[in-house]
Amino acid sequence: MERRGTNCEKWDYLEEEFGKSDLLALWVADMDFPAPPEVLKALHNKIDEGALGYPITPDSLLEAVTGWQKKRHGWEIGKESVTWAPGVVAGLAFSLMAFTKPGDGVIIQTPVYPPFYAIINDAGRRIVKNPLKRENGRFAMDLEGLEKLVTPTCRTLILCSPHNPVARVWTRKELDALAEIAKRKDILVISDEIHQDLVFSDAKHICIASLSDQMSSRTVTFVAPSKTFNIAGMKASVALIPDEKLRFRYKSVLDRFHLGSLSILGLTATETAYAECAEWLDELMAYLEENREMTEKFVKERMPKARMDHPEGTYIFWIDFRGYGFNSETLMDFLVNEAKVALNNGSNFGTEGEGFARINIGTNRAQLKEALERIAVALQSRA
Ligand SMILES: Cc1ncc(COP(=O)(O)O)c(C=O)c1O
Repeated sequence: MERRGTNCEKWDYLEEEFGKSDLLALWVADMDFPAPPEVLKALHNKIDEGALGYPITPDSLLEAVTGWQKKRHGWEIGKESVTWAPGVVAGLAFSLMAFTKPGDGVIIQTPVYPPFYAIINDAGRRIVKNPLKRENGRFAMDLEGLEKLVTPTCRTLILCSPHNPVARVWTRKELDALAEIAKRKDILVISDEIHQDLVFSDAKHICIASLSDQMSSRTVTFVAPSKTFNIAGMKASVALIPDEKLRFRYKSVLDRFHLGSLSILGLTATETAYAECAEWLDELMAYLEENREMTEKFVKERMPKARMDHPEGTYIFWIDFRGYGFNSETLMDFLVNEAKVALNNGSNFGTEGEGFARINIGTNRAQLKEALERIAVALQSRA
């Protein structure tokens, strides 16, 4: 759909962010597709009722949330484990308040989604970086490095699973190895699984808390219908916390700010998405998978000095442009002023992202192709 003029950050904030508005927008992790018709219908119905006062959280919503985890991810959790957040980043920030103290170290595996840095800093906690490493031609968690970073005041890990921006879907073997260290070193895992449903057919997402009772008792998981169904503006996210003590601590922060429930439209959209939109998601993934193939082929053939690993999940891919001699500054200048596309600056994800850019392929194929063409042609004219 045309999103320009809909008060949309991705398309209507280009001038402010990039200094130009005539760019193709492939930055913010929002897709250019309308929300599922089932969700739109449920929202229309709710509005037609005319009553938008305080809602209660219906049991059917809890069933939709837990049913989705069971069906799509094989994770069986009780309804009592479900609680909320007005956004996943907000939930992560509340978790830092609930589970860590000022001055504590919080481990993140970089490059990673920029707000992870901000929420740790802003809470007066310490960012402790465990950079991803290269292994067999792809990014991997440096588990030996992780183990060395754990101390009594640094035992919280924010896991990004699947990982934004490197588009890895962590394997069972990798998660098992992480779980073993978590147990031995008494690590609390705050697992951001917002991209859990956006996984291609050659990968499988595993919820880290589903690995064992041991892991479930030391993990706080965040999921949401926001990325999956392109409804991030609903500000409705889900915290899944099977351990009663951890849940109590998390909920006490929610209660402090009177944020214990979703908005009436947020809960309507969330229930409908999880209860009725599995087929919509399957169709979306088939489309995105073709976009993935096209992008991989295009980068290989038309941008021979750029490199992109095989993306396993998410619709935001990580391209290494260093082969063309760019640093962050020259790369952004090139993309905006020569190629006329808006991608995320890799260095915002950490120093490891210097010379990289993140591209959002969640758009119609013709537009994606046009954006890739613009980059390739501009690269060629530099050569
Ligand atoms: C890993 C990750 N976490 C959280 C978010 C944002 O979540 P929210 O808008 O619910 O705060 C994003 C959005 O791109 C993301 O990629």
